[in-house]
Amino acid sequence: MASSSSFVVAAIFSLCFLSCAFAELQRFEHAPKSDGSLSFLVVGDWGRRGDYNQSQVATQMGRIGEMLDINFVISTGDNFYENGLKDIDDKAFEDSFTNIYTAKSLQKQWYSVLGNHDYRGDVLAQLSPSLRKIDSRWLCLRSFVVNAGIAEIFFIDTTPFVELYWTNPKDHTYDWREVSSRKDYMETALKSLESALRESSAEWKIVVGHHTIRSAGHHGDTQELVDLILPLLKAYNVDFYINGHDHCLEQISDFDSPIQFLTSGAGSKAWRGDVKNNYCQLKFFYDGQGFMSLQLTQTDAQIVFYDVHGNVLHKWGMSKQLSMPK
Ligand SMILES: *[C@@H]1O[C@H](CO)[C@@H](O)[C@H](O)[C@H]1NC(C)=O
Repeated sequence: MASSSSFVVAAIFSLCFLSCAFAELQRFEHAPKSDGSLSFLVVGDWGRRGDYNQSQVATQMGRIGEMLDINFVISTGDNFYENGLKDIDDKAFEDSFTNIYTAKSLQKQWYSVLGNHDYRGDVLAQLSPSLRKIDSRWLCLRSFVVNAGIAEIFFIDTTPFVELYWTNPKDHTYDWREVSSRKDYMETALKSLESALRESSAEWKIVVGHHTIRSAGHHGDTQELVDLILPLLKAYNVDFYINGHDHCLEQISDFDSPIQFLTSGAGSKAWRGDVKNNYCQLKFFYDGQGFMSLQLTQTDAQIVFYDVHGNVLHKWGMSKQLSMPK
């Protein structure tokens, strides 16, 4: 009797442990500058062995990165075209990353998410720690959190959310290892994102994923994310949602919350020309190549978009009141 009830207790305990454990995102600490401020660059949709102005964008990232004394770089995914990496020995890793982003200021940690094109190769290769032996800047995981003092950045792997990739992949093959079933994957991802957002007390909350939530570009909004992720961003006062996928630079303000939707997906091939001008909250749209910077202090945020020559295309700032000491 005693042993069977303690078995039940142990079973309940381990069930709880399992469900609590799977809801925890892996966390990384990244120290801000000595004055507590933080700055970083964001680039997306880039890996083309330097072609389509990827190298020119990289050069300007180096220059701006130096000027802003950046802490790290964020990649919004579609890291290697057309079909991700073949395996961990794929030379595309060096040809499109290591040998392209060579500037001194870019020799910082890169935090990357996966894009849909990355799923068309060996998806586990990009997640593999062995790439870090080739280039220690590389860190790409499915979903994780970077705690950088005043800001907490929540990275989420959005590709499995998009139903069409599963139901109508056309002539593409997606590497769904570790994320099928889609339903289980989404449940876990949403649960872990929600629990990390709920626990966060950072001044700035930033969520990064490959796919758009709001976009005036070619792909437009991603309905699955509008339905499932946007409510979490609103409920937990997220400041910025940052994505790639549309090969452009853009800023859209939410119409009923302070959330800014920032697209930085212009790391190489761009110029699609199809702008959906009917987006009334569109603050800025550019369909050429470039990248974005974000500078944060405890009370102020400044977002800047740059073109392939490093010229400033658009600047936007906001301030908020210091939160009451807890
Ligand atoms: C490279 O950038 C320049 C300047 O924006 C642009 O005119 C040109 O079309 C770009 N090249 C490619 C291949 O996209």
